[in-house]
Amino acid sequence: MADYETITVEQRDAVTLITLNRPQALNALNSQVLEDLIGAFAAYEGDPGQRCAVLTGAGDKAFAAGADIKEMADKPAADFYLDDFFARWTSDLVKKVRKPWIAAVNGFALGGGCELAMMADFIVASDKARFGQPEINLGVAPGMGGSQRLTRAVGKAKAMEMCLTGRMMGAEEAERSGLVAHVFPHENLLEKALEIAATIASKPPMAAIANKEMVNAAFETTLDQGLIIERRIFQILTASEDKAEGMAAFIEKREGKWKGR
Ligand code: CAA
Repeated sequence: MADYETITVEQRDAVTLITLNRPQALNALNSQVLEDLIGAFAAYEGDPGQRCAVLTGAGDKAFAAGADIKEMADKPAADFYLDDFFARWTSDLVKKVRKPWIAAVNGFALGGGCELAMMADFIVASDKARFGQPEINLGVAPGMGGSQRLTRAVGKAKAMEMCLTGRMMGAEEAERSGLVAHVFPHENLLEKALEIAATIASKPPMAAIANKEMVNAAFETTLDQGLIIERRIFQILTASEDKAEGMAAFIEKREGKWKGR
């Protein structure tokens, strides 16, 4: 398995565990983290034996405390613009990963850290997790999707309030507001996230990609278009070997054996 500078990657059966590993900087996201994550997610995506991934942060304190402020502090504005800074988080990380992945938020998820967590298919959090878009305190604003994904997740009132005040939201409020799927006691978070990932990994993998694709379509389309996308994907899946196996296994009262096609 490839070696990375800023993350660690482990395979636990069919689950890939990716850990942001700059605890001394609260796992702040610099350009090397982006390169490493793109590499690790591409390896995950390309490995047919890997069926779900979990992304978490090293250390007891942070998932990621944001984009690396020290890297951005002296960067000329023209470089941000000409490099289309932050674009690759969406183009290379989110759009190219069709297989499922979960963010296990173990502490601060601020700025780019909150935005990275929201790029996941869903978030599970420890009871110590804190989410926020504090960029306003630095004289800037979210740049990796926070104004869009947070608003879609929690609605305009809370998203606007959090962006304008820089307030952090605790785990319980985040679950109540729809940002987080489940909250677990801090010490059990990783075990629980891996358990959920193992459940997803045990499902027919092509159907997992299809389910992800259609739920994501709900954020990009009108209801009418989304319903068409849903029906077409459903109809395509009926031609799969896993559909034949899944329905036969149900009728024969046994576990299905998936081919992934
Ligand atoms: N970038 C770079 N370094 C960071 C960092 C970041 N986002 N967040 C924390 N660190 C570093 C600190 O500089 C410190 O390093 P040193 O020991 O070398 O000084 C180390 O991590 C520990 O941090 P603190 O001493 O500040 O820890 P704390 O417990 O007192 O506070 C915190 C924790 C409230 C999370 C605080 O670190 C903080 O406010 N961090 C910045 C949060 C932030 O503003 N994030 C948004 C960044 S901008 C962005 O993300 C843009 C975007 O939309 C993509």
